[in-house]
Amino acid sequence: MPLDTNYIRGTMAAVLSILQHSTCPENVSFHFLLAHLEAEIFSLIRSTFPYLTFKMYRFDSNRVRGKISKSIRQALDQPLNYARIYMSDILPLDVERVIYLDSDIIVVDDIAKLWGVDLGDKILAAPEYCHANFTNYFTDTFWSEVNLASTFEGRRPCYFNTGVMVVDIGKWRKGEYSLKVEEWMALQKQKRIYQLGSLPPILLVFAGNIKAVDHGWNQHGLGGDNFEGNCRKLHPGPISLLHWSGKGKPWLRLDSRKPCTVDYLWAPYDLYRSSRVALEE
Ligand SMILES: *[C@@H]1O[C@H](CO)[C@@H](O)[C@H](O)[C@H]1NC(C)=O
Ligand SMILES: *[C@@H]1O[C@H](CO)[C@@H](O)[C@H](O)[C@H]1NC(C)=O
Repeated sequence: MPLDTNYIRGTMAAVLSILQHSTCPENVSFHFLLAHLEAEIFSLIRSTFPYLTFKMYRFDSNRVRGKISKSIRQALDQPLNYARIYMSDILPLDVERVIYLDSDIIVVDDIAKLWGVDLGDKILAAPEYCHANFTNYFTDTFWSEVNLASTFEGRRPCYFNTGVMVVDIGKWRKGEYSLKVEEWMALQKQKRIYQLGSLPPILLVFAGNIKAVDHGWNQHGLGGDNFEGNCRKLHPGPISLLHWSGKGKPWLRLDSRKPCTVDYLWAPYDLYRSSRVALEE
């Protein structure tokens, strides 16, 4: 997981939710990617979860300096958002498989089930959304250039959300996929082929070539398009993971006392609320 000090409340809630729903919480180990290694953050995690197996790694933002193009949302342009592309370089070589998770999630099922997915010959597993209009993730420039538009030839590309991914980083490392994603980022610098941040270059490399897992593993979009006043409903069906992707974050909406109904599902995992409220009032 990325560990951004601005999102630490989300990260802590996510960790708590994972541990609470694991049959064997002692089997789960966390790898946190940070822009700056800070002793206070280490101590905070250690004191909150005394038995947690975790390591912290610095993601050097120089790695993506000059490679990030401005997206339509400033929050997406944070270098740490791109750390997921470099897990294969950052994590130790004996780590072969990881589940990448954003900080604005809650897991309500045993994470071991997701971990156990059979990747077959694929590098990445995630819920796939073949009904989403894939065209819209790329610009007219992209689709109008024959050599670019032919990128997806021979595969049926479907949208997937990069906030929840099972990744065989052993294979990713061998195939040098970080470089492949970077090549698209470099092209984006020359001409605008997409509008979002780290998601489209990953789609360009992997869409149509991933292992699909149950949609319950990423009920995304719960943040909605706005900080306030755009509450999303849950999709029908079983839910294993809730994801507040989008502009609204449950902790902010709860603090502003204008929560969406789905935010009440996040609240039980909030380890900060009482102290925060006490500080502010
Ligand atoms: C937990 O780890 C132990 C030791 O590696 C293993 O035997 C066991 O099956 C694991 N349990 C789960 C639920 O994954
Ligand atoms: C997808 O979106 C594009 C561009 O907005 C549109 O031209 C196309 O008809 C849409 N496709 C479907 C299947 O809705």
